[in-house]
Amino acid sequence: MDSSPPTLVVCALAAVALAVALAKLKARLELSKAKHRSLAGHSRLARRIAALVPYYDYDETGFFRSDDPPDDVAARRRAGFARLSELYRDRYARTARLTAEVEDGISDLQFTAAYRVPFQYSRFARRHLQAGAFVQSSGGVMISDLDGNRFYDLTGSYGVNVLGYDFYKECLERGAALVRELGPVLGSYHPVVADNVGRLRAISGQDEVSFHMSGTEAVMQAVRLARYHTGRPRLVRFCGAYHGWWGDVQPGVGNPLPARDTYTLKDLSEDSLRVLRHRRDIACVLVNPLQALHPNAGAPADSALVDSGRGAHVDRAAYGAWLQRLRAVCTEREIVLIFDEVFVGFRIAAGGAQEYFGVRADMVTYGKTLGGGLPVGVICGRRDLMKRFRDDRPVDVCFARGTFNSHPYVMAAMHEFLRRLEDEDIRRLYRGLDELWDRRAVRLNQRLRDAGLPVAVANLSSIWTVCYTRPSRYNWMLQYYLRAEGLALSWIGTGRLIFSLNYSDADFDAVADRFVAAATAMERDGWWWCDGAATNASIRRRVVREMLAHRFTFLRGKSMSGSM
Ligand SMILES: Cc1ncc(COP(=O)(O)O)c(C=O)c1O
Repeated sequence: MDSSPPTLVVCALAAVALAVALAKLKARLELSKAKHRSLAGHSRLARRIAALVPYYDYDETGFFRSDDPPDDVAARRRAGFARLSELYRDRYARTARLTAEVEDGISDLQFTAAYRVPFQYSRFARRHLQAGAFVQSSGGVMISDLDGNRFYDLTGSYGVNVLGYDFYKECLERGAALVRELGPVLGSYHPVVADNVGRLRAISGQDEVSFHMSGTEAVMQAVRLARYHTGRPRLVRFCGAYHGWWGDVQPGVGNPLPARDTYTLKDLSEDSLRVLRHRRDIACVLVNPLQALHPNAGAPADSALVDSGRGAHVDRAAYGAWLQRLRAVCTEREIVLIFDEVFVGFRIAAGGAQEYFGVRADMVTYGKTLGGGLPVGVICGRRDLMKRFRDDRPVDVCFARGTFNSHPYVMAAMHEFLRRLEDEDIRRLYRGLDELWDRRAVRLNQRLRDAGLPVAVANLSSIWTVCYTRPSRYNWMLQYYLRAEGLALSWIGTGRLIFSLNYSDADFDAVADRFVAAATAMERDGWWWCDGAATNASIRRRVVREMLAHRFTFLRGKSMSGSM
């Protein structure tokens, strides 16, 4: 056997190359295994598929018959829809008129109006059920539109409204009075900033604070700092979690570019921990604790409500234990653990998710409600991670500025918000919070069950989502019945009901009455009729067949049954 030195060297090099290739293959396989099996876990594929989905919609007949109901059910739906449409026309006339006048000039409004319900039904629903996008006033737990209709507010203003609109009006007024003398001077700080920093350090348990203008920006900067300090490029987010609309945290549908430095891993999974333990390129892990309500699933919007597959359930202990394990791995691997509390901060507990789940992060992002009614994003973090320059390499900095950072009016409204958190009337709202909202959810579910309605709610404290218990293509219609009963939802519909903590039992009971009345009317009007053989899977298959038929016209007629 030839074992001359050059041959030995070649063999050694080949062995090293093989070992490296095997290690890479193992890392690749581990990464694949840690992806969730749903499309939300496969961003690139999701984008490709989204680009292939053709537009089509139902005509008037198809709108009522997309699940092939018997004639009498279709007639009930039609009559119920006509009643609802007339009610909307009469009751929301001024609000709808102004909305129609400006709609073609506001891109955001066009987007939200189009995506309230699955696109196949959207055009017809929009034409006949125009509620309008304008409101005139708020007070207590209610808002009023331009026609003088009053609605219980379940929009929560995207989660900003934790403590009731009147509370924020006070923050805005008192805050404005505090800084009126300074006005909009930027770059220097109003003295309230010093107080805010002290309070935020105490609440978050973190060393330093930085102020930004939105939650999206706070997340961007937290990730940038993590990359700067670790020298690693990748960020890990969990499947379905929302962290704002910056490209790196929104891989997949919605972002025209692939987010190459983002790994989207399975929540609550040993496979994901293995990836964190073995890879050397991960700078940070982003956690949105709201995912405790629906791990691995995206924000439940009614535009995606094509069947009744939406599920939600919180296991606080299990999610807390998961965060503990994540914490341990991040510590072991020096990966920065970032809690994105832009939504849940100050809502699920005064000390946010860190307090609620009993886990300390390395950085925490806040926003929404913390601005006391004004736009804001904040990072609280460990001193070594928050630093934006290096003492030994003065030109190697981590840049982050922003014209309106620390705007005096925002800082002052925030000051009022933080100061009031100490007041007894506000502290009382946080006591027994979970028990209160869980009890309310149980009560509503009992009423829905007693009435034989195929609807159930699930909640993470005051953040609720509506689930559907019978296979149906029409669950999204509930949002229109709820509005007719005086319940205001945000544009994503029944996927998120956000209560403010100032809801009294009487307020809540009124909401529950209206909720049950709305669902009862929807049942009476036949929208939840169900072919005994239908399942969520069969509904989804049918929708896919429709899409294919519209994509490949030669299939049309084979899979259609005259429903369009
Ligand atoms: C968890 C989380 N992070 C970030 C953001 C983005 O915040 P903003 O809309 O203020 O940019 C949101 C907004 O909903 C959020 O819920």
